Amino acid sequence: MTASSRPIGAFDSGVGGLSVLRALRAQLPAEDIIYFADQAHVPYGPRGLDEVRRFSEAIARYLIAQGAKLIVIPCNTASAAALKPLRQQYPDLPIVGMEPAVKPAAEHTESGVVGVLATPTTFEGELYASVVERFAQGVTVLQDACPGLVEEIEAGRANGPQARRILEAALQPMLGSGMDTVVLGCTHYPFAFDTIRDIVGPAVRLVDPAPAVARRVESLLAEGGLAAASGVGATRERGVTRYMTSGDPAAMQQRVHELLGEDAVVERVDWLAGEIHPQMNTDKHR
Ligand code: DGL
Repeated sequence: MTASSRPIGAFDSGVGGLSVLRALRAQLPAEDIIYFADQAHVPYGPRGLDEVRRFSEAIARYLIAQGAKLIVIPCNTASAAALKPLRQQYPDLPIVGMEPAVKPAAEHTESGVVGVLATPTTFEGELYASVVERFAQGVTVLQDACPGLVEEIEAGRANGPQARRILEAALQPMLGSGMDTVVLGCTHYPFAFDTIRDIVGPAVRLVDPAPAVARRVESLLAEGGLAAASGVGATRERGVTRYMTSGDPAAMQQRVHELLGEDAVVERVDWLAGEIHPQMNTDKHR
């Protein structure tokens, strides 16, 4: 297998990273992608940096063993916990992480008040402290961890009544303080876009970093000579996405259908002694 024909590896705690996968596929249609959802451990948000780092390192090992030519972490929480150690462990592998998009929000705010919705572990990490420190001087940054929202989105209720209650509790006080820009600092939250828009109204800017992440992946692939062949002479125009979950494949399949409109086959993998293994024998594990 040539380097360029190898897949991109992507992982999140669950379905959140699908909001970035959507942007990746729009930007890089010829690429094969392995999307790994660690639904045995979702949500990552309340777990803390050490535990999420351990999960992320094991998932990265697995994706690399599957041939990943680049790893993208479409998860702010896993990036907060593991981006730096993974880059140290794999200095030759391009790794793209995420951080809450405080920079563009701070550049565009007119009221000088920005709201960030992200998980507790993301707020705890150095990455977040450093973006606020570097880019939000003179801007008021309000934060909310939206407890319970990831669980609602995982359950297929991204725009249901409970999600709305959680988002109203987060956003209304921010609006009361003059916030004019909301950073979607967790990749699950773009799936609640309609509810968020409805609460904040048309004048508030919502910042989703997914397209910027996809452009960054594109430029790293180009720099490394790793981009899949496309266009004239290519064997095929569209890459294939392989979905894997450490949770329930049927539920994941249903979410992929609802969130991306795609009928996917979802493979099940298992955690055994801190490492990931493909499911060998279905009966053995039931
Ligand atoms: N989607 C993830 C993020 O961007 C993780 C959410 C969670 O599992 O708590 O932070």
